[in-house]
Amino acid sequence: MDSRAIGIFDSGCGGLTVLTKLKQILPNENFVYLGDTLNFPYGSKTKEEIIQCSIKNVEFLISQNVKIIIIACGTATSQSLDILKEKYDIPIIGIIEPTVSYIKELDLKEIGVIATEGTIRSGAWEKEIKKLMPNIEVINKACPMLATIAEEGKAKSKEGRCVIKEYMKPFKERRVKNIILGCTHYPIYEEIIKEELGYDVNLINTGETTAIFTKNFLHSENITANHQKQREKIYLSKNTKEFKNIAQNILGENLALFVTL
Ligand code: DGL
Repeated sequence: MDSRAIGIFDSGCGGLTVLTKLKQILPNENFVYLGDTLNFPYGSKTKEEIIQCSIKNVEFLISQNVKIIIIACGTATSQSLDILKEKYDIPIIGIIEPTVSYIKELDLKEIGVIATEGTIRSGAWEKEIKKLMPNIEVINKACPMLATIAEEGKAKSKEGRCVIKEYMKPFKERRVKNIILGCTHYPIYEEIIKEELGYDVNLINTGETTAIFTKNFLHSENITANHQKQREKIYLSKNTKEFKNIAQNILGENLALFVTL
């Protein structure tokens, strides 16, 4: 047993899509979330910049006395997970490994991956997928504008729909049936993507796979909590006027936000 909270970070609101799944799958756990809105977006940053941001985020969460850290960000997972794991003793889970383990069970011939520019450039998804499934074809597509449009609260606007139309072209042409939402901001576009593709598509939500993986990890390490009432605290490195609305839409609750750093 370990009653301490689970720490989570992202560059902004995207990681809330992971927090939602964690809350559902781990109803007796507490959470501390950090959205690094001051340094958003991570997708266009260099590896070195992402590592520096991730280190700051981890140190903040450790100062909050969390028992484990989840990198609820594809970009930070792809470029800083290995370094963070080496540097800190606290268990750290990214979103790539849990998702790839899930895909392996599907026994697919091809898989689509959409993510930020930095994530696609790093090749981290493709590398991890090929490790377990050497014969699968991976169709990558960088979607540089999606996280920013979502962070501005405009995912469902005309602009959001136009950009989705463009980014979905390679998948629509080939009718790709399974696509990983490789950036945690992207589940915000789930409905719009499905509408645009117009066929039965499995959009793989990294929040869900990561939450299941985390549950198994907590059990295997015997560090689950048993809180009767779940609590979460959300910190931002900079207050933005859109964040509260977006958080309410994703989590379905009116939450207090705290500004830090
Ligand atoms: N939510 C993030 C990800 O999963 C980061 C988006 C960004 O900051 O560019 O990649």
